[in-house]
Amino acid sequence: MTNATYARRVTRHAYAKINLYLDILSRRADGFHDLLTVMHSLSLHDDVSVEIFPCGEKQISLRVYGARLPVDQKNLAYRAAEAFLAAIGQNARVHVNIRKKLPIAAGLAGGSSDAAATLRAIAELFGNPLSEDNMLALGAALGSDVPYCMVGGTQICRGRGELMQPLALSEPLYAVVATAHGERVSTPRAFAETDTYYNNFDGSVPHGADFDRLCRALADGTLGENADCLYNAFEPVVLPTCTGAADLRERMLALGAYAAHMSGSGPSVFGLFKTHDQTLDAARALGPFAYVATSAKL
Ligand code: C5P
Repeated sequence: MTNATYARRVTRHAYAKINLYLDILSRRADGFHDLLTVMHSLSLHDDVSVEIFPCGEKQISLRVYGARLPVDQKNLAYRAAEAFLAAIGQNARVHVNIRKKLPIAAGLAGGSSDAAATLRAIAELFGNPLSEDNMLALGAALGSDVPYCMVGGTQICRGRGELMQPLALSEPLYAVVATAHGERVSTPRAFAETDTYYNNFDGSVPHGADFDRLCRALADGTLGENADCLYNAFEPVVLPTCTGAADLRERMLALGAYAAHMSGSGPSVFGLFKTHDQTLDAARALGPFAYVATSAKL
């Protein structure tokens, strides 16, 4: 087994992402939607550790602590390990441990981030035998958000999300992230509902916000003054049915957030504040399911 003896276990953080901007541009012939989105990694994270052992066949096992989640092919992290072994054509026993802290099915890309961390960790254990392009292609085959989660930071993402362009950010963001108890959103269903809401993206329903101004504001540290540029096209579709999320958003604004939005297809909501102290106060006021976070990487 190539290089496998050098390190038997690698542990990585699997960071949450939020969408500072998320516009859905069109529905494609393959059923996916073309996006224009700005993804941003927050310090909230799961912990993923991967161990490999010499073995004459491909064996994968997964344990998840802190949440009830499938531990077989239904779990994206399992499929990530499987896809990597298939790509390098090697046998091994791979054990993946996930300590789950991120809310599930919440729009924070927790599952994608676990899969991304699994891919990075297993690749490291094998001595990084695949090119970066091949790694990102493996990620994209697993899920639309996986390539971004493999790279992280602040990225403009296009296509399904896999076409990335890094965005300079002059200072860290301070965020509170919260999910209303009992609310979950099915991403495919939320996308399907946007088709109806935006008249199949025929241009008759306006959407989007000032994307260029948002990018400039991120670069020059004036997001607070340009908060009207943050945008999420899912909000008018999802928030009317996720009243807990809508309420959290209003409460965050009332607590002094300069912007508060849903992340991804929801129902997690993030509020951005000027200082870390403000996030602590706001999270305390919102209750035990509100988390304080800052930018994971600039
Ligand atoms: O790629 P992923 O498996 O995460 O996507 C889940 C579902 O979300 C897809 O089956 C599709 O219905 C929808 N989706 C989409 N356009 C995207 C990303 C996801 O329509 N860009």
